[in-house]
Amino acid sequence: MVKTIEWKKGKVVMLDQSKLPLEVSYIECSDYQKVAEGIKKLWIRGAPAIGIAAAMGIALGAQDIKAKIFDEFIEKLEPIMNTILATRPTAVNIRWAVERIKKLLSSNRAESINKLKKLLIDEANKILKEDIEINKAIGRWGAQFIRDGDTILTHCNAGSLATGGYGTATAPMLIAKKQGKKIQVIADETRPVLQGARLTAWELMQAGIPVTLITDNTAGALMKKGMIDLAIVGTDRTTRNGDVANKIGTYTVAVLCKEHGIPFYVAAPLSSMDFTLDSGDLIPIEERHPDEVRKVWGHRVAPEGVNVINLAFDVTPAKYVTAFFTEKGVFKPRDIKKLMKDDINLDSLRLKSI
Ligand code: MRU
Repeated sequence: MVKTIEWKKGKVVMLDQSKLPLEVSYIECSDYQKVAEGIKKLWIRGAPAIGIAAAMGIALGAQDIKAKIFDEFIEKLEPIMNTILATRPTAVNIRWAVERIKKLLSSNRAESINKLKKLLIDEANKILKEDIEINKAIGRWGAQFIRDGDTILTHCNAGSLATGGYGTATAPMLIAKKQGKKIQVIADETRPVLQGARLTAWELMQAGIPVTLITDNTAGALMKKGMIDLAIVGTDRTTRNGDVANKIGTYTVAVLCKEHGIPFYVAAPLSSMDFTLDSGDLIPIEERHPDEVRKVWGHRVAPEGVNVINLAFDVTPAKYVTAFFTEKGVFKPRDIKKLMKDDINLDSLRLKSI
């Protein structure tokens, strides 16, 4: 599998996902502004991946700071963190990464500035490494809910490319395949920027999982024909009550699943959970440039200047979510808020089947 992002020789190197699948090329970022540009322009995208990019971008920016004491270092790091925070509003993973970095720094106040700079690089690499392990754990728990012969619908790309590796929604598919289950995936193309067609189809084909591409408006017809057994999607932010922000069109898929009695699962690492928000109504939803809708990959398909609504994400209410696949197990939406406590007996909450 191709690498999404890495720290290499003092630079952040990211795969340019905006060019996939036609071109596999990497962009070298030598300053944090370039990392921020990459997040905004979707060279790197997907909630966990932009969390990793945020941590690497901040570490990169920190290397150029000239400071003598801790407080001065933090003062100069603040605008760097704010630039990264301002890139994309919906996925909570960017804020999660910034908070993790702040915590690390405040518990290392006594260290030299050079040591702090090194700690930031190490932390960013640690976040990347941990993310892959988290995804594998999501995969192991989630695969229990996939049967031999199942056809799985997915929306957008919550695969390897959206993470440090392995993916969140794709991890249970990869593990199910390893377990010898014969599965196939139906991928929504995911307009406007086609993450399903360009990225999910591409990476599942590379992983040897049979994948069929459909237009976004085909899913309902296939469900009615009994051609879909379950749906698995990712999330950009899940709130305390189990509401889920994910790529625009996810809500439609969830409602269709409910109508057809099809389980709708959300693969959600804890880094995508926002325990500070009570409901999905409070999640900031990114609106992107109208040309993403007026055009298909650079080619205009609508009248010039036509009015457009281009919401990048929607919110699926918890009542449509059958269960969450997390690194700590599989849980009902009502139990999500309990995951924020360390002292909870998770085994009593874990779902074994539906
Ligand atoms: O706009 P994108 O491509 O960043 O949107 C990505 C998604 O909506 C993913 O489904 C989500 O981030 C989960 S990725 C594991």
